[in-house]
Amino acid sequence: MQYTWNDIDRHIADCTQCALSRTRHRPVMGRGNRQADLMLIAEAPGAQEDQQGIPFVGSSGEILDRLFWDCGLSREEVYITNILKCHPPGNRDPKEEEKEACVPYLKYETFLLKPRIIVCLGRIAAQRIISPDFRITKQHGTWTYRKDCALTATYHPSAILRDSAKYEAVKKDFLEIVRKQAEFHQQKFKKE
Ligand code: URA
Repeated sequence: MQYTWNDIDRHIADCTQCALSRTRHRPVMGRGNRQADLMLIAEAPGAQEDQQGIPFVGSSGEILDRLFWDCGLSREEVYITNILKCHPPGNRDPKEEEKEACVPYLKYETFLLKPRIIVCLGRIAAQRIISPDFRITKQHGTWTYRKDCALTATYHPSAILRDSAKYEAVKKDFLEIVRKQAEFHQQKFKKE
């Protein structure tokens, strides 16, 4: 069966596939431009996202907005989502069974969006999406290609909250992402 965005929204709103459905306030569906060629995938909603039902509205979101501003990006032109749609209490790492239960939603989001670039924010997303042995410290900013999609990872914005010196490294990764996006746009323009 072919799901639509509305179907996914509805399924996530009603989801009881794992125990987080009993502790969450609101599930957090991906947000942004559903025609975007750039998809950002993070780990799981934080406490403020859990209250509002919107990704990256807390302090990590402020960092992300600053990065976007510095790199000429905007939330309106990207799609942002998480591996888990529900907040793990105390911001603990997602459990394997929670990721397994939630990842089908991410697959549908990716199928519908058909992004040209996927950016994993942080280790948890990178290890789930790019490779289980992905080392964020060593491999952030490197690229992997799958079919028509380029994948990369950078530090999660919360890592910058803990260590502000990481900001420049993440900004450098994002500037490269913007350059890659421009390259795709040029190729598309040539084909048309
Ligand atoms: N951290 C995440 O990984 N995702 C959010 O949506 C917010 C904070």
